[in-house]
Amino acid sequence: MSYKIALICGDGIGPEIVNEARKVLDKVCDVYGHSFTYKNLLLGGASIDVHGVPLTEETIEEAKSSDAVLMGSIGGDAKTSPWYQLEPSKRPEAGLLGIRKALNLFANLRPAYLYQELKDACPLKEERIGDGFDMIIVRELTGGLYFGERKTVEENGVKTAIDTLSYNENEIRRIAIKAFEIAGKRRKKVTSVDKANVLDSSRLWRSVVEDVAKDYPDITLEHMLVDNCAMQLVHNPGQFDVILTENMFGDILSDEASMVTGSIGMLSSASLNETSFGLYEPSHGSAPDIAGKGIANPIATILSAAMLLRYSLNLDKEADAVEKAVQEVLKDGYRTGDIMSEGCTCVGTAQMGDLIAERVK
Ligand code: IPM
Ligand code: MG
Repeated sequence: MSYKIALICGDGIGPEIVNEARKVLDKVCDVYGHSFTYKNLLLGGASIDVHGVPLTEETIEEAKSSDAVLMGSIGGDAKTSPWYQLEPSKRPEAGLLGIRKALNLFANLRPAYLYQELKDACPLKEERIGDGFDMIIVRELTGGLYFGERKTVEENGVKTAIDTLSYNENEIRRIAIKAFEIAGKRRKKVTSVDKANVLDSSRLWRSVVEDVAKDYPDITLEHMLVDNCAMQLVHNPGQFDVILTENMFGDILSDEASMVTGSIGMLSSASLNETSFGLYEPSHGSAPDIAGKGIANPIATILSAAMLLRYSLNLDKEADAVEKAVQEVLKDGYRTGDIMSEGCTCVGTAQMGDLIAERVK
């Protein structure tokens, strides 16, 4: 089959890691007889440099006309990059939030699991790791605090900054349905995370999630307060299967969950709308400090490409092959610097891409 994939390299290590994911996708084409055509799109700082804005209509339209979007990362060093001299709505991050909204990518899936091969990189004690863990965070991505009205006002010489957190029932319902559907294909447990002891938006969240749960009698639902969840993630990560939560809580908890796996350089993500269309990106950032050095870990982006194959193109066998290739490379002892441990072979970004592509069968 032939598919059209939009590539957003973005900033920092973005171009390097997207290049390796593309290498792996090309290998999938060779082995399975598909054809992918790629279109490079600008977003974030790369778009500011060319167009003066982090997101253009052209990028939105081109993304919409493709089967899926594969992205690297956006953003720079806030202390030194000129992008951060611009007003907040013109900075790289605004481009990312903007494209998520424009493409209606309300469901952000962030898997976090412990590779047996990387157990040494996990910062938790052996007894906390137990038999390992395998969870997926389902984060609402187009509502809540990051999209509410915000302003800074000054009265009598005193500045006040206001951000608003709002959710309507429909926004909660559609993300809850995604979480239950995913749990149905996994270990059948949803932990819905909120702050219902304080926030109205969380109380509505809880009641809508309970309502949705009635349609999924075989799935266990539990509610957990977000502060407790932050603690449980390091106390007993094995208890989680699907974590369902709103935008900001999901942003924070997914970083925490990824660190628990040992390296944020390993974690992929998918941002989906109501159809099979999605934008796929690593969970990590653009790491400007190591950009251009050829040492970034491309695995999160390669695994994001595997998610793209699975969710947007419906190519499960091909996605399995990529995931298996990653596992084999780890088993064979190859590591990038961020996941390096004694007795392993340290490789750079491009070599890691080659080693994984070679193993796609
Ligand atoms: C993420 C990032 C973004 C977010 C930033 C860059 C706007 O932290 O994808 O988790 O907060 O969603
Ligand atoms: Mg984040």
